[in-house]
Amino acid sequence: MPRLAFGADYNPEQWEAATWKDDVRLMREAGVNLVSLGVFAWSWIEPRPDAFDFSGLDEIVALLHESGIGIDLATPTTAPPLWFSHAHPGSLPVTADGLRRAPGSRQAYCPSSPAYRERAALITRRLAERYGEHPAVVMWHINNEYANGNPHCWCENSAAAFRTWLRTRYGEDLEALNERWGTRVWGMRYSDWEQVIPPRTSTSRLSPGLWLDFYRFSDAEHLACFRAERDIVRTLSPGRPVTTNFMAGALRWSDYWRWADEVDIVSNDHYLASEDPERAADLAFAADLTRGLAGGKPWLLMEHSTSAVQWQPRNIAKTPGEMARNTLTHIARGADGALFFQWRQSAYGPEKWHSAMVPHGGEDTRIWQETKALGKAVAGLADVAGSTCPPAEIALLLDYEAMWALELTDRPSADLTYRDALRTWHQALWNVGLPCDLVRAPVPGEQRLLLVPSLYAVSTDTARALQDYVARGGHLVVGPFSGVVDSDDRLHPGPYPGALRGLLGVRVDEYLPLAAAETVTLDDGSTGRIWSERVVPDPGTEVEARFADGPAAGGPAVVRRGNVRYLATRPDADALQRLLPAWAAQAGCTPPLDGAGHGVEVTRRTAPDGRSWLFAVNHTRHAAPMAAVGVVPAGEVAVIRESRAPATQPHTPRTQPES
Ligand code: GAL
Repeated sequence: MPRLAFGADYNPEQWEAATWKDDVRLMREAGVNLVSLGVFAWSWIEPRPDAFDFSGLDEIVALLHESGIGIDLATPTTAPPLWFSHAHPGSLPVTADGLRRAPGSRQAYCPSSPAYRERAALITRRLAERYGEHPAVVMWHINNEYANGNPHCWCENSAAAFRTWLRTRYGEDLEALNERWGTRVWGMRYSDWEQVIPPRTSTSRLSPGLWLDFYRFSDAEHLACFRAERDIVRTLSPGRPVTTNFMAGALRWSDYWRWADEVDIVSNDHYLASEDPERAADLAFAADLTRGLAGGKPWLLMEHSTSAVQWQPRNIAKTPGEMARNTLTHIARGADGALFFQWRQSAYGPEKWHSAMVPHGGEDTRIWQETKALGKAVAGLADVAGSTCPPAEIALLLDYEAMWALELTDRPSADLTYRDALRTWHQALWNVGLPCDLVRAPVPGEQRLLLVPSLYAVSTDTARALQDYVARGGHLVVGPFSGVVDSDDRLHPGPYPGALRGLLGVRVDEYLPLAAAETVTLDDGSTGRIWSERVVPDPGTEVEARFADGPAAGGPAVVRRGNVRYLATRPDADALQRLLPAWAAQAGCTPPLDGAGHGVEVTRRTAPDGRSWLFAVNHTRHAAPMAAVGVVPAGEVAVIRESRAPATQPHTPRTQPES
């Protein structure tokens, strides 16, 4: 593995061989040291069934090797060739409405298709046999963004696999399944396993238990595909780390805590919503989440863009310096390198308007010049590799299953989403410069303050983990509509908030969601959004703020019992920026690093030998004061090598050429 990786997805099959030499020359010029090769190259290397042609790939691998560029070799199984899809139409995914997706694009496969799995294993084996011991192959990239495009499939293969999965989950006990899914409702009891089908579109609603198991099953099927390829590669290419690129920030269908346990190095893709004024905070969220998934160890940014993407309604170019800020923010937050999609901007096809390291205009372009300068800056930070961000004192709990459960239909409010809470809480901390980790239950011991956004579905294990955390002296803040149901969406017994009632010290009499755009005022001046509740505090539970208006007017809005707070509404961004720092201070958290907050990110990476680096990323239009360097100029990044090891000079590479 290179020290800090810098590079891109490389798709040489889109170009004539004459371009390849030029590619490699330019890669060297830009400081590229790692490329993900062959992500979509299946039909290139197996143009007809069993007719393998590795000549092009051989040439490229040799060229990259000669130039000292490491290869992150991809299994191309995200893009089965058309000959495969036409020969096996049953391998194509089917929608909930029974519509079979046509071949013609990537991800056109059902992960439960035996034919797909067989051919995916074969191409993986052939690649690993041929290149597994090649010195240029430094890591493996399995498939691409699992579950993007084909997260769920409702076909017959899936139905059969789903039944098998359920029979294992419920120990062959169909009555147990009936019980967990609550099939007494509407008389939908199963009397034979064959009656169990995926949640296909029906006349009315389906059991939430069915949906949740289907989501778990679908994720497990993708993961099984990953494992099968990974195991082939591990056998034939020992010693090389195996990864697959996550889409952590999207918070959708992959329970990445499970995935993270299966990869050798966590890697992530992140794209900015180009019109989002808060896009830098979104990037920080994705990076913090990826670091959390990696268990705090270094991770790799597998894809981002040098400038615009092509798949948003308006694809705004990155402003000068933004690409460097993005890249260095990922590194500041624990990435051991950053790669782009893609190396050379396509000349045709759907992604030709997606930016790349080498734009259509070639070397005489702003993007290329900035790319080269960035390559130099990243190379200058090589010694950062392997260091880590110290654990944050504040953490956000992320539970994918709770997110799936909250975001099913037939909830009191469609506005009360899980991702909204995670994102707004993280962003509030980002705005005030307080570092935050994302964690899963059971909660690691280091945190002083744990934030738990609406944990609507909570298992008894997770409820116990929260109790243990508080018993160890941790401070806890729990968002509204938490503790209500178990992992199968069945009410916990007793009054709300069910499994968390004792811990939170309240009884909720009634959930009172707000109308769209309605807000409520609290008597401490805060504004609440989306939600309110009629809360009855237990004796000994203190009321810190009350609803001044709205459906729960006069009732408690923020309550506290010892180190535990419960919120009966979603405070808006302003309120969070006031409340979270106050709660953090009460929990004994250290204040933000010098200069951090309000558009300036300041983070630290440390090495076990005592060396450390401060990264200051100034997203604002004004110079930001920072004691260590005087100021960080507008739009720039300073990296301060803190001189704890002897004879180390402070070092401040600029992200843009000095002018
Ligand atoms: C990613 C994908 C890449 C490329 C990129 C464009 O989701 O993995 O192959 O399509 O989007 O932004």
